[in-house]
Amino acid sequence: VRLRRLREDDYPYVITRLDDWWGGRHVTAMLPRLFFQHFNDTSLAAEDDDGRLIGFLCGFVSQSNPHDAYIHFVGVDPSSRNAAIARSLYEKFFDTVRSRGCTSVACITAPVNEISQRFHSRMGFTMLFQPDYDGIGGARIVMSRSL
Ligand SMILES: CC(C)(COP(=O)(O)OP(=O)(O)OC[C@H]1O[C@@H](n2cnc3c(N)ncnc32)[C@H](O)[C@@H]1OP(=O)(O)O)[C@@H](O)C(=O)NCCC(=O)NCCS
Repeated sequence: VRLRRLREDDYPYVITRLDDWWGGRHVTAMLPRLFFQHFNDTSLAAEDDDGRLIGFLCGFVSQSNPHDAYIHFVGVDPSSRNAAIARSLYEKFFDTVRSRGCTSVACITAPVNEISQRFHSRMGFTMLFQPDYDGIGGARIVMSRSL
């Protein structure tokens, strides 16, 4: 597996597979093209030996708090799971944002996404359930860890 920077021209490939990779949930509205345009110096793609994109991470350094990093989305092709690809993407991202002065990283997930919660728990994140976090009825699990 090779890690490289995410590019805008990865967007069509990712967005047409996103709901499928998320087990049929409708999540495409949460990943507009702007994440592939304006955050790609801290966002990553994982490619297999044939150059096929099998995982990605969209993350950035907080503009408001430059010591904080934030991971917006991570996904791995279902046929390539449980092979430490997401772990590699996270560790590369941690190195990148540490070198820019970040000391903590955060992300959020939906309460229904138990796989994400288990994954983040293995990656050392602590979790906090926040009712109405994203508006009325928008409960989220807020996750963070130090770097
Ligand atoms: C969550 C996801 C990114 C994990 O990708 P992955 O490449 O299979 O994960 P890894 O192989 O790197 O696993 C890293 C750790 O998490 C654990 N983990 C991963 N998936 C898990 C699962 N379904 N249940 C329990 N633990 C899991 C692994 O056991 C591993 O732990 P270890 O390194 O301590 O042994 C992948 O399942 C996915 O794309 N899911 C759909 C999209 C999604 O929900 N993204 C997260 C919200 S934005």
